[in-house]
Amino acid sequence: MKALVTGGAGFIGSHTVEKMLDKGWDVVVLDNLSTGLRDNVDARARFIELDIVDSKLSNIFAQEKFDYVVHLAAQTAVPYSIDHPDIDCKVNLLGLVNVLEACRHTSVKRVVFASSAAVYGDVDSLPVTEECTLNPTSFYGLTKLTSEKYLALYNQIHGVNYIAFRYANVYGERQGDGGEGGVVSIFTRKICLDQPVHIFGDGGQTRDFIYVGDVAEANCQALTAPQMAANRVYNISTQTQTSVNDLVELLAAAAGKQVDKIHAPARDGDIYHSMLSNQAAVEGLYWRPQMLLAEGLGRTYHSLKKMP
Ligand SMILES: NC(=O)c1ccc[n+]([C@@H]2O[C@H](COP(=O)([O-])OP(=O)(O)OC[C@H]3O[C@@H](n4cnc5c(N)ncnc54)[C@H](O)[C@@H]3O)[C@@H](O)[C@H]2O)c1
Repeated sequence: MKALVTGGAGFIGSHTVEKMLDKGWDVVVLDNLSTGLRDNVDARARFIELDIVDSKLSNIFAQEKFDYVVHLAAQTAVPYSIDHPDIDCKVNLLGLVNVLEACRHTSVKRVVFASSAAVYGDVDSLPVTEECTLNPTSFYGLTKLTSEKYLALYNQIHGVNYIAFRYANVYGERQGDGGEGGVVSIFTRKICLDQPVHIFGDGGQTRDFIYVGDVAEANCQALTAPQMAANRVYNISTQTQTSVNDLVELLAAAAGKQVDKIHAPARDGDIYHSMLSNQAAVEGLYWRPQMLLAEGLGRTYHSLKKMP
């Protein structure tokens, strides 16, 4: 089976591509290398350098006749979306529509889409389920929520089959420090350089950290999940809360170092607690996170330490 992975030169994309190739997929990666790296792309995959908003996308779909699409390419930085809502909108919405138009004209069998926990905004109770009220507090969260609605309507009007995932805070090897969920990557870089880590607020704020290999596995499973599991949204998370203070301790243990913490004022608009329910994915897709946080953080630290 032939699949296209947009954003396959990025963090989650490169892990997804590797896993798909290991499972025997014929994979084509399409990426404009704005944040991704050519070196991240597995040599077994074919690479096309192109922007997802480019009109040439339809020709590529017509020539290649993909069976499946994993759409991960996006503007991924929350603060950037506040300062540049136009670019966030162009890449995340016009880019998605360009991909969906190409999918419907070439009868792609399923689109797997990367949405985000950012669609929820502030919530009253935890764990956050897919049915919770959606109140994004950034333009990035808004374009992800609107993307989910585009997918639902493309399914209703044109029969485009999809599965959308709201990932929690993804971490692991090859993560950049610019996009979403970068706290692990930022802290790990500081620890590698023997520098203190800066914590906004008291460090008691919690996040749901999910290992990138578990996210890549969810993306793979979604491609072949039965039809009855499709055309809906799932959280992809560990359903566990870890405080930022505990995260620093776990990273310090992985590095075998003492880590100094510097506390800065809490940032306006930061959510204090976050944890997503993963019951729907466990029951509907038979997916379950496998990686323990301490081990995943250890892998992340050691891979970053090896980098020049
Ligand atoms: N990392 C997280 O914690 C997290 C959480 C929730 C959702 N997501 C979503 O997962 C997806 C992958 O994120 P990531 O963390 O791997 O980020 P990333 O920046 O590493 O990957 C994004 C990839 O898309 C490419 N890209 C960006 N704009 C493009 C365009 N216009 N045309 C073609 N390619 C383009 C980049 O070059 C990069 O390779 C994104 O859709 C992101 O919004 C990530």
